[in-house]
Amino acid sequence: MTLIHSTTFTDGVHARGLTKSFGTTRVLAGIDLTVPTGSLLALLGPNGSGKTTTVRILTTLLAPDGGTAAVGGHDVTREGAAVRRVIGLTSQQATVDDLLTGRENLELFAGLYHLGRRQARQRAQELLERFDLAAAANRRVAAYSGGMRRRLDLAASMVSQPRILFLDEPTTGLDPRSRAELWSVIRELLASGTTILLTTQYLEEADQLADRVVVINGGRVVADDSPAALKRQVGTERLVLRLARPEDVSRARSALGETAAGGAAGAPPDTGAREVTLAVQGPDHLRHTLDLLHRADIAVEHVALRTPTLDDVFFEFTEAAA
Ligand SMILES: Nc1ncnc2c1ncn2[C@@H]1O[C@H](COP(=O)(O)OP(=O)(O)OP(=O)(O)O)[C@@H](O)[C@H]1O
Ligand SMILES: [Mg+2]
Repeated sequence: MTLIHSTTFTDGVHARGLTKSFGTTRVLAGIDLTVPTGSLLALLGPNGSGKTTTVRILTTLLAPDGGTAAVGGHDVTREGAAVRRVIGLTSQQATVDDLLTGRENLELFAGLYHLGRRQARQRAQELLERFDLAAAANRRVAAYSGGMRRRLDLAASMVSQPRILFLDEPTTGLDPRSRAELWSVIRELLASGTTILLTTQYLEEADQLADRVVVINGGRVVADDSPAALKRQVGTERLVLRLARPEDVSRARSALGETAAGGAAGAPPDTGAREVTLAVQGPDHLRHTLDLLHRADIAVEHVALRTPTLDDVFFEFTEAAA
């Protein structure tokens, strides 16, 4: 696609060349992304890379400095009201009111969308059941757990039955069970045709849910592909070496850097202080690597092979741009 005009698209999310600065700080330096109708795009990036800023622009809460974006076929700057009619947003900060009950919160949101009283009650009840909050419906939100709050936030963003949903870190701070529950709700929404743009810090989440992953860093898109393709791009398998002595780590890295020049990308050491990770290109390369360390008198305590994860993708792409 070369010729893009916002009204070309009837649905989904299409952004081209979005730029945004706060004062002298340029946060977005030209972001392109597309979320086809009925699919889920995961937007990844380090803290402060502009994920929330992008979401705020696409949901008309913030005007871009430059570029264009269409959501549900409507231009975000010129047709804000039309965009707001077709979207739902779960923002990074909770939007529900602590002093109200779960039910009251949802009925309040329904009122904002001009549903009548009976309809509002019915919609609230449906959502409470769907998000497993019926038992807690009449309790004040102040007494909810973090997971219940997140579910209520998501329910609130669904009151208007939006075709397009923006979820800004919907599962941050949730325990694994609550996260898995939220994932299944998100999968149901996708199955019913909802278009979703989700930001997350969890690569596993992107891997589980996303049709496409966009990684932003330094204000630009540094990767844009399917989770599987991104994993392939990062290499075949990862060799994780745990060294006996932490002081050997830098020596090991420079030793392995030379072999890596033969094709494999030398990856940065993991957070584990004695671990060195690198892409490994098969048995010969593995043997060669271990020989090399042996000859350099670097003792290896533990060796593991694992398939690349989206974490590897994340580190590779964000480090390259840094
Ligand atoms: N209203 C604002 N005024 C000034 N600076 C802002 C404003 N909003 C965001 N920023 C800055 O823009 C940058 C990007 O912020 P943003 O919230 O979009 O990042 P993020 O990718 O969502 O980060 P996180 O992963 O922490 O949620 C940060 O440096 C932030 O401090
Ligand atoms: Mg954010």
